[in-house]
Amino acid sequence: MEVNFTLNGEKATVDVPPYTTLTDMLRDEMNIQSVKKGCEHGECGACTLLVNGLPVASCIILAPQVEGKHITTLEGLEHKAMMIDLRQAYIENGAIQCGFCTPGMLISSYALLRDNQNPSPDEVKLAIEGNICRCTGFTKIIEAVLDAAERIAVE
Ligand code: FES
Ligand code: FES
Repeated sequence: MEVNFTLNGEKATVDVPPYTTLTDMLRDEMNIQSVKKGCEHGECGACTLLVNGLPVASCIILAPQVEGKHITTLEGLEHKAMMIDLRQAYIENGAIQCGFCTPGMLISSYALLRDNQNPSPDEVKLAIEGNICRCTGFTKIIEAVLDAAERIAVE
């Protein structure tokens, strides 16, 4: 079936079977590789993206459910100043190792800082609670998000 939506600010139409997940539609039909396939059960957050601005696990959304909606992936945010600060803070705080969780973590972190530029450590933990990192532990990721908030505040 045909699905019409907006992807990273551009109108898109894709023809897929109705049981196709949003993750598969983006990866297989649109070459959006920042959306990772981890658990595929809504548990790990590797597939996180923004639907109408809210972070969601795309592996548990079917393609037809995004009809008329706005989808934003890391590809659509890479030149945003806030995302550049976040990325740099992740790198400098040692919050990336294998990087598999990183796109989803960055999306959740971005959504937090977009709405709250002075988060507490507990607010950061809440924002990334749906994202699992197998490598760094969460301390460095939380520190990176708090560091990014400080960078944004002085700009
Ligand atoms: S792959 Fe979607 S939550 Fe794990
Ligand atoms: S950096 Fe490897 S899973 Fe997070």
